[in-house]
Amino acid sequence: MATVLDGKRVAESIHVQLRQTLQGLQAQGLTLKLAVVLVGDHPASASYVRGKQRAAARVGLDSELIHLPADVSEEALLAVVERLNADPAVDGVLVQLPLPDSLDEQRILRAVSPDKDVDGFHPYNVGLAWTGQARVWPCTPAGILALLQDYKIPLAGKHAVVVGRSRIVGKPMAALLLQENATVTVCHSQTRNLADLTRQADLLVVAAGVPRLIGLEHVRPGAVVIDVGIHRVDGQLMGDVDFSAVSAVAAAITPVPGGVGPLTVAQLLANTVHLGLRRRGLEADEGCP
Ligand code: GUN
Repeated sequence: MATVLDGKRVAESIHVQLRQTLQGLQAQGLTLKLAVVLVGDHPASASYVRGKQRAAARVGLDSELIHLPADVSEEALLAVVERLNADPAVDGVLVQLPLPDSLDEQRILRAVSPDKDVDGFHPYNVGLAWTGQARVWPCTPAGILALLQDYKIPLAGKHAVVVGRSRIVGKPMAALLLQENATVTVCHSQTRNLADLTRQADLLVVAAGVPRLIGLEHVRPGAVVIDVGIHRVDGQLMGDVDFSAVSAVAAAITPVPGGVGPLTVAQLLANTVHLGLRRRGLEADEGCP
């Protein structure tokens, strides 16, 4: 039976560190702030944003929600982003994805100041990440690395297989694992013979967005399996991995819920603190693996 990797515990230890840092700043009269822009009423996005704000409050980070209607114009949304970029009290700007189809996501993400880009999605920050100069890594890959480091799971020389190539998880996860000296294979929806590749993995990171895509036949006994998916199917929460089948052979596996999700949120807070301190000339080392 696999070790169940406890994302909630590791997230809480990140929160403890951040709370200390933020309390120290508050003693000097400084409060950091995250601004979250939510467009429309996508129920999952609204719930994620509430979770991010609750976690921010728990560590002593201010947050501001700018909730815009689904039919907001691109110009009006850009004006909000510009206002947040220019506001000296705002340390991090996050535009919750996905955006409605009427909006040009690339254009909006390019408008966020790279110095406040807590998601690490601006092309400038993506370029820094792929060239070994990251200021922040996207929150989910950074959270996964924190989890692997907490459990002392080595990466150098290991074969990591990433399933999924999204901007949010797959691509930055591949870059981060490369930086950690893993040998990285990236699979996606057009990959042929998926199981032939995933069975080679020492570390399998699954961010495909397909409920229970990965079963027993995809996993080498003794592999470490990280499940980024979260789906509600017939009222039941599940990931991209068939937990009950895979946990019988894996060395370690993340649960859903309670695995990657809390780490993504913790890392968002860490990235906000990191960029806030950096922009204010008060460097600290939170946020950057
Ligand atoms: N939607 C799902 N995950 C994320 C994330 O990490 N950042 C943003 N901005 N939107 C998301």
